[in-house]
Amino acid sequence: MLEVTFEKQKRTLKVEPGANLRQVAIAAKLGIYAHIFKLLNCRGRGLCASCRVEIASGQVAERNEVENKNLARSLKKNPNLRLACQISVEDNLVVRTHV
Ligand code: FES
Repeated sequence: MLEVTFEKQKRTLKVEPGANLRQVAIAAKLGIYAHIFKLLNCRGRGLCASCRVEIASGQVAERNEVENKNLARSLKKNPNLRLACQISVEDNLVVRTHV
Protein backbone atom coordinates (compact mmCIF):
# COMPACT_ATOMS: atom_id res chain seq x y z
CA MET A 1 0.00 0.00 0.00
CA LEU A 2 1.08 3.55 -0.74
CA GLU A 3 0.18 6.75 1.08
CA VAL A 4 -1.29 9.83 -0.53
CA THR A 5 -1.45 12.94 1.62
CA PHE A 6 -3.76 15.75 0.58
CA GLU A 7 -2.00 18.71 2.13
CA LYS A 8 -4.81 21.27 2.31
CA GLN A 9 -7.33 18.72 3.60
CA LYS A 10 -4.78 17.33 6.09
CA ARG A 11 -5.71 13.75 5.18
CA THR A 12 -3.50 10.79 4.38
CA LEU A 13 -5.01 7.82 2.57
CA LYS A 14 -3.75 4.28 2.03
CA VAL A 15 -3.87 3.57 -1.69
CA GLU A 16 -3.27 0.53 -3.89
CA PRO A 17 -0.44 1.00 -6.40
CA GLY A 18 -1.86 2.04 -9.76
CA ALA A 19 -4.90 3.81 -8.30
CA ASN A 20 -6.10 6.87 -10.17
CA LEU A 21 -5.48 10.03 -8.11
CA ARG A 22 -8.82 11.64 -9.00
CA GLN A 23 -10.71 8.49 -8.09
CA VAL A 24 -8.84 8.25 -4.78
CA ALA A 25 -9.84 11.81 -3.88
CA ILE A 26 -13.46 11.32 -4.88
CA ALA A 27 -13.77 8.01 -3.00
CA ALA A 28 -12.52 9.76 0.14
CA LYS A 29 -14.91 12.68 -0.43
CA LEU A 30 -12.02 15.12 -0.74
CA GLY A 31 -12.94 18.07 -2.88
CA ILE A 32 -10.47 18.44 -5.68
CA TYR A 33 -12.77 20.58 -7.79
CA ALA A 34 -13.27 24.27 -7.10
CA HIS A 35 -16.60 26.05 -7.29
CA ILE A 36 -18.89 25.12 -10.18
CA PHE A 37 -16.45 22.51 -11.44
CA LYS A 38 -17.76 20.16 -8.75
CA LEU A 39 -20.66 19.70 -11.15
CA LEU A 40 -19.17 20.78 -14.45
CA ASN A 41 -16.12 18.64 -15.09
CA CYS A 42 -15.20 16.12 -17.71
CA ARG A 43 -15.41 13.15 -15.31
CA GLY A 44 -11.78 12.24 -15.71
CA ARG A 45 -11.34 12.43 -19.47
CA GLY A 46 -8.56 15.01 -19.24
CA LEU A 47 -10.53 17.67 -21.09
CA CYS A 48 -11.54 20.32 -18.56
CA ALA A 49 -8.33 20.85 -16.53
CA SER A 50 -10.44 21.45 -13.43
CA CYS A 51 -8.75 18.65 -11.46
CA ARG A 52 -5.42 20.49 -11.44
CA VAL A 53 -3.16 19.51 -8.58
CA GLU A 54 0.45 20.05 -7.66
CA ILE A 55 2.53 17.07 -6.61
CA ALA A 56 4.48 18.50 -3.65
CA SER A 57 6.49 15.33 -3.15
CA GLY A 58 6.74 11.85 -4.60
CA GLN A 59 7.39 10.50 -8.07
CA VAL A 60 4.78 10.34 -10.81
CA ALA A 61 5.10 9.47 -14.49
CA GLU A 62 5.92 12.21 -16.97
CA ARG A 63 3.09 14.48 -18.02
CA ASN A 64 1.18 12.86 -20.87
CA GLU A 65 0.02 14.47 -24.12
CA VAL A 66 -3.44 15.26 -22.72
CA GLU A 67 -1.93 17.10 -19.77
CA ASN A 68 0.56 19.00 -21.90
CA LYS A 69 -2.23 20.15 -24.19
CA ASN A 70 -4.77 21.12 -21.54
CA LEU A 71 -2.37 22.64 -19.04
CA ALA A 72 -0.27 24.54 -21.58
CA ARG A 73 -1.25 28.03 -20.41
CA SER A 74 -1.26 27.19 -16.68
CA LEU A 75 2.18 25.59 -16.84
CA LYS A 76 3.71 28.98 -17.55
CA LYS A 77 2.59 30.12 -14.08
CA ASN A 78 3.21 26.82 -12.29
CA PRO A 79 5.32 24.19 -14.06
CA ASN A 80 4.48 21.57 -11.40
CA LEU A 81 0.79 21.30 -12.27
CA ARG A 82 -0.77 17.95 -13.14
CA LEU A 83 -4.23 16.65 -13.87
CA ALA A 84 -5.32 14.32 -11.06
CA CYS A 85 -7.40 12.29 -13.50
CA GLN A 86 -4.29 11.42 -15.50
CA ILE A 87 -2.11 10.32 -12.58
CA SER A 88 -1.59 6.74 -11.55
CA VAL A 89 -0.29 6.51 -7.99
CA GLU A 90 3.00 4.61 -8.00
CA ASP A 91 4.77 6.27 -5.04
CA ASN A 92 3.92 7.94 -1.74
CA LEU A 93 2.64 11.38 -2.68
CA VAL A 94 1.88 14.73 -1.13
CA VAL A 95 -0.73 16.53 -3.19
CA ARG A 96 -1.86 20.15 -3.21
CA THR A 97 -5.34 20.73 -4.55
CA HIS A 98 -7.02 23.93 -5.81
CA VAL A 99 -3.82 25.28 -7.30
S1 FES B 1 -11.50 15.77 -14.57
FE1 FES B 1 -11.42 17.02 -16.32
S2 FES B 1 -9.32 17.17 -16.72
FE2 FES B 1 -9.40 15.88 -14.99
